[in-house]
Amino acid sequence: MCAKPVKHERPEVGTTGHQWDGIEELNNPLPRWWVWVFYATIVWGLGYTVAYPAWPMLTGATPGLIGGSTRADVAEDIARVDAANAGIKARLVAADLNAIGTDPELAAYAERAGAAVFRTNCTTCHGSGAAGFQGKGYPNLLDDDWLWGGTMEDIHLTITHGIRNTTDPDARYSEMPKFGVDELLDDTQIAQVVEHVLALSGQEHDAGLAAEGAVVWEDAACSGCHMEDGSGDPTQGAPNLKDAIWLYGGSREAITESVFYARFGVMPNWNARLTEDEIRAVAFYVHGRGGGE
Ligand code: HEC
Ligand code: HEC
Repeated sequence: MCAKPVKHERPEVGTTGHQWDGIEELNNPLPRWWVWVFYATIVWGLGYTVAYPAWPMLTGATPGLIGGSTRADVAEDIARVDAANAGIKARLVAADLNAIGTDPELAAYAERAGAAVFRTNCTTCHGSGAAGFQGKGYPNLLDDDWLWGGTMEDIHLTITHGIRNTTDPDARYSEMPKFGVDELLDDTQIAQVVEHVLALSGQEHDAGLAAEGAVVWEDAACSGCHMEDGSGDPTQGAPNLKDAIWLYGGSREAITESVFYARFGVMPNWNARLTEDEIRAVAFYVHGRGGGE
């Protein structure tokens, strides 16, 4: 239903000519002060884009007359902090690895810097520790179980050169044979030696198979790396198979997979990415967290 337009009460204002369902739109002028503020913002806006980096061009934004750059500000801040820390970093690099902990100021710095390096570079693979995340094949560094040794020297070396990477000739290296893939053992022998490993680690196992597995263990030279009793060898990164901590899992299936395929875990060498003071700081942090030896 279409009502007749109602006459509005301020005829001096006029209307825009729109009307909808009998309601007309008045043409009130904007308040003067509002219009001036509006013009002022336009002038300010134009001035701002001239003074500061603003207009996108082919290779970057216009630099602006007063040349402000948040990137340069950050670089300046970083340079200032670096300069302030230069002294303590030099001391950290010069210190005997085992003496870092005995100098309270050095220890406090290494702890803080190491925690930051760890958060940025290591948690992706190693997890943040207590949170429970633990990727298969990535050792928890915050416990006291070590593949390659837990002294400050061991940890420092592991971090510096990495493990089984192809970029650093000094990387830690060892290679468990692929007993299944390369047919060094047949399926029966693998099943037997897996039962032996289950027995070593105090898990439920078939005693008959495990006894035969003990013979395979000797014949296949598992003991050459994992030791006679399965306690592991940190000079070869061969894990302790007697405890409840597993790099790849301690179930019958996971152990069978480890023996059949072998694993060959790789860690990058951090000397390519971190400075010596950062490596020392993170080594100190990891050593302190993990009940280092
Ligand atoms: C790309 C994944 C990756 C990143 C990132 C990484 N690691 Fe590792 N790390 C590994 C793997 C895999 C191993 C275990 C290799 C093996 O099987 O021996 C390992 C082992 C280690 C070990 C030896 C542990 C032991 O029990 O002996 C240390 C120490 C270590 N990493 C420190 C670090 C530190 C510190 C960082 C950060 C600066 C870091 N890792 C970053 C993958 C990584
Ligand atoms: C040349 C040294 C070497 C020999 C020989 C060797 N291993 Fe290993 N083993 C390793 C290394 C190193 C690892 C760590 C995983 C990896 O990076 O391959 C490992 C890992 C394992 C794992 C996984 C442990 C975990 O925590 O998840 C099992 C199980 C295992 N070996 C069993 C055996 C058995 C059984 C034999 C004999 C049939 C054997 N290994 C022979 C070096 C060896």
